Amino acid sequence: MDVEKPLFVNIWGGGFTRPSWAVLLLVFTVFAVLCFQISTNTVFPIWTVLDSEKSGIPADPRSCSGFFRPGLPRKVVKSITDFGGVGDGKTSNTEAFRRAIRYMENFGDKGGSQLNIPKGRWVTGSFNLTSNFTLFLEEGAVVLGSQDPKEWPVIEPLPSYGRGRERLGGRHISLIHGDALTDVIITGKNGTIDGQGKMWWDLWWNRTLEYTRGHLLELMNSHNILISNLSFVNSPFWTIHPVYCSNVVIKGMTILAPLNSPNTDGIDADSSKNVCIEDCYIESGDDLVAVKSGWDQYGIAMGRPSTDIIVRRVSGTTPTCSGVGIGSEMSGGISNITVEDLYIRDSAAGVRVKTDNGRGGYITNITINNITMERVKIPIRFSRGSNDHPDDKWDPNALPIVKGIFISNIVSVDTKKAPVLEGIENSPFEGICMKNVTLSGLPSSATWHCEFVKGDTVGVYPMPCPQLQTNNSSFSCPHS
Ligand SMILES: *[C@@H]1O[C@H](CO)[C@@H](O)[C@H](O)[C@H]1NC(C)=O
Ligand SMILES: *[C@@H]1O[C@H](CO)[C@@H](O)[C@H](O)[C@H]1NC(C)=O
Ligand SMILES: *[C@@H]1O[C@H](CO)[C@@H](O)[C@H](O)[C@H]1NC(C)=O
Ligand SMILES: *[C@@H]1O[C@H](CO)[C@@H](O)[C@H](O)[C@H]1NC(C)=O
Ligand SMILES: *[C@@H]1O[C@H](CO)[C@@H](O)[C@H](O)[C@H]1NC(C)=O
Ligand SMILES: *[C@@H]1O[C@H](CO)[C@@H](O)[C@H](O)[C@H]1NC(C)=O
Ligand SMILES: *[C@@H]1O[C@H](CO)[C@@H](O)[C@H](O)[C@H]1NC(C)=O
Ligand SMILES: *[C@@H]1O[C@H](CO)[C@@H](O)[C@H](O)[C@H]1NC(C)=O
Ligand SMILES: *[C@@H]1O[C@H](CO)[C@@H](O)[C@H](O)[C@H]1NC(C)=O
Ligand SMILES: *[C@@H]1O[C@H](CO)[C@@H](O)[C@H](O)[C@H]1NC(C)=O
Ligand SMILES: *[C@@H]1O[C@H](CO)[C@@H](O)[C@H](O)[C@H]1NC(C)=O
Repeated sequence: MDVEKPLFVNIWGGGFTRPSWAVLLLVFTVFAVLCFQISTNTVFPIWTVLDSEKSGIPADPRSCSGFFRPGLPRKVVKSITDFGGVGDGKTSNTEAFRRAIRYMENFGDKGGSQLNIPKGRWVTGSFNLTSNFTLFLEEGAVVLGSQDPKEWPVIEPLPSYGRGRERLGGRHISLIHGDALTDVIITGKNGTIDGQGKMWWDLWWNRTLEYTRGHLLELMNSHNILISNLSFVNSPFWTIHPVYCSNVVIKGMTILAPLNSPNTDGIDADSSKNVCIEDCYIESGDDLVAVKSGWDQYGIAMGRPSTDIIVRRVSGTTPTCSGVGIGSEMSGGISNITVEDLYIRDSAAGVRVKTDNGRGGYITNITINNITMERVKIPIRFSRGSNDHPDDKWDPNALPIVKGIFISNIVSVDTKKAPVLEGIENSPFEGICMKNVTLSGLPSSATWHCEFVKGDTVGVYPMPCPQLQTNNSSFSCPHS
């Protein structure tokens, strides 16, 4: 028995005959004591980490799969040059795009079609997409939005808004538009769609905008859509706007607009169902991602909710707005939303729930988990609007219902202000649950500002407002 051997040398190594049982016993004892000492502080982390490694389950099995059903490769593949396109950055390709789509419409029920945009700079006015269709931007392809407002014709307002969002009446069509489509893919090798929005921002800034600005991409009443692997920049208004859609995947997108550009939201999922937004980087002058569902009496009348939406692994910055905004237009209802694994920096708010008197509708079952923030002014904010109504026919008795917001695993560093949670009188926000929320960098005098909210918290720093303090041992959040 050679117990003098140094303990940890070559116990299980090659060339060693057999470890003596006494050595093993000693090692085991030391290991057990060490484990016990560690485990008195943190029982679960160690063992769950080991278990998940052993089980071979991938670290992150979550993805958008299931939201979009890919079809067969398209039968007909053409290039924009086949329709007379010229990628010189000057020639208008509006007719080339429209001609291409008119041609490709014929193949919707004959195996589908794909339009390739090669390297080059392709100026165009607005054009529509078609069903069973792929728009593919090669590496170095840049589609440029026309600087002539007439090439963005005015179309009907959305029924759930009753008017243009910014101006009464109709609204400019989006640069790329689709209505009542199925099976559409907009993708490529990180090609760019550049709305050249400055002209529109100027019109907005100098108050000469006649009709609401157009989006960069809007799809209405459409199903089974994939938007991926592209850069969308300088949208005149909200960048990607699926409205009355279902089964939409937006993945691997880079969305950029100047940080001071007005209302250049990244992605607005609006009155849509089964939407998955994943792995996107967004910098813009408004919310990075927003979930909406119509405006006051028009949204109530239409009653088209946004539901079953996932926003995951989105990062970016918006100095005047929020990482994720729920509302403020939410009159058709918003429910079953999951927001997770976000990184938000240098922004006015991290997560913001916005509503107002007159909205009606509901915001329920919102799960927000694992958000990291740096230099975010107000990490968590609920606000009740600023008299932002479509017209004077809104119903003051139409109070929104906000119930069931589960916020967990939030870290915010260099925070400027404690949460501001303003619910609505006569319709307090209920079931506001927070768990493991650490907001650091605040002055010691910082306190939460809460009005008309009720809920429970555990592991929240700094100490939440009394309305959210759980003063008995039963923390009642269903998602905890
Ligand atoms: C799209 O393709 C599918 C499958 O080939 C077909 O069933 C469907 O009718 C097509 N849609 C349109 C609008 O042509
Ligand atoms: C595109 O579709 C809209 C309706 O969704 C229509 O008003 C417009 O005329 C269409 N544009 C073209 C170029 O076909
Ligand atoms: C795509 O291009 C943008 C610039 O337009 C760049 O910032 C981004 O990193 C690129 N993404 C990939 C995946 O190459
Ligand atoms: C407003 O901006 C537009 C677009 O840049 C410009 O054509 C127009 O002259 C401007 N109007 C005023 C009053 O500054
Ligand atoms: C995005 O591009 C990568 C690299 O080319 C590719 O592997 C992936 O399948 C693409 N994803 C989507 C959703 O288009
Ligand atoms: C929310 O999700 C639950 C469970 O998946 C489902 O039963 C419920 O219908 C969903 N709510 C809405 C409004 O779709
Ligand atoms: C809440 O939404 C999640 C998805 O975000 C869903 O899995 C869950 O079933 C919903 N719960 C209820 C009560 O609707
Ligand atoms: C939290 O989100 C970050 C991305 O911001 C991700 O890297 C990390 O894996 C996530 N953590 C968990 C436990 O899922
Ligand atoms: C609290 O949340 C942070 C950020 O997601 C995470 O890193 C940490 O492990 C969580 N702590 C507990 C006790 O769950
Ligand atoms: C405990 O909760 C009740 C009811 O929510 C509240 O009235 C009371 O002030 C709380 N007490 C403390 C010590 O927080
Ligand atoms: C303690 O919490 C439970 C569950 O939330 C609640 O039903 C009960 O009224 C609370 N008790 C007090 C004394 O606040």
